[in-house]
Amino acid sequence: MTLIFGHRGSAGTRPENTMISFKEAVRLGADGIELDVHLSKDQIPVVIHDETLDRTTNGSGFVKDYSADELVHLDASWKFDEYRGEANIPLLEEVLKWASESAVPFIINIELKNNVIEYSGLEEKVISLVKHFELDDRVILSSFNHSSMVLALKTEPKIETALLYTDGIYKPYEYARRAGARSIHPLMRTVKNELIDLSRENSISVRPFTVNDDKEMHMLFEWESDGFFTDYPGKAIEIKKSI
Ligand code: G3P
Ligand code: CA
Repeated sequence: MTLIFGHRGSAGTRPENTMISFKEAVRLGADGIELDVHLSKDQIPVVIHDETLDRTTNGSGFVKDYSADELVHLDASWKFDEYRGEANIPLLEEVLKWASESAVPFIINIELKNNVIEYSGLEEKVISLVKHFELDDRVILSSFNHSSMVLALKTEPKIETALLYTDGIYKPYEYARRAGARSIHPLMRTVKNELIDLSRENSISVRPFTVNDDKEMHMLFEWESDGFFTDYPGKAIEIKKSI
């Protein structure tokens, strides 16, 4: 079955990586949500995509230079006037607490944003929160930093890891198996039906990103990809229903 993941929540219609966006994706019926995590100055996992605050919030500079308390008071509603003042940067803890209390057991893909800045200890801190909220079976950890995913597996082998990549990996399903990962998250443009078939034969799940185009969604449902990430989970759900 092809599962639909709301990318940064429902980033096409709500301020990305905010509670408003995650709640919208789940309200629409997405099978999972995707979010991005960095560490604050005081080593707390916070949910935001970029290394810097400038694009999505009313702050500026590096996330790592602010305390969690300073970060949660920033407005993350940029691009969406109607949510001004209502969409702050969430702590990962807040998202996981909400997920653990939800009646719907949606999946949470936590992308560790440690491919530009290393964030020593990020894996351990994220895993500790996942375990605290007993979400081991509902969480997928992913990263473009594949060593980080190997470290995450060493720290907690029960939690699924996924390798993100944009291009240039020979036989990614074999590479993932060697790294102990259960899945690959490739850039959509690099994905062919053959990759999905060969990955399935190697027991590796494939979930491409970021799929906003109707034709590509149709294709992935037809190829029976294990899932995909989209900024428009509502549209993906309608297409899935129509097939
Ligand atoms: O996890 C899939 C996708 O989110 C990876 O790319 O840049 O949107 O974080 P990016
Ligand atoms: Ca991401």
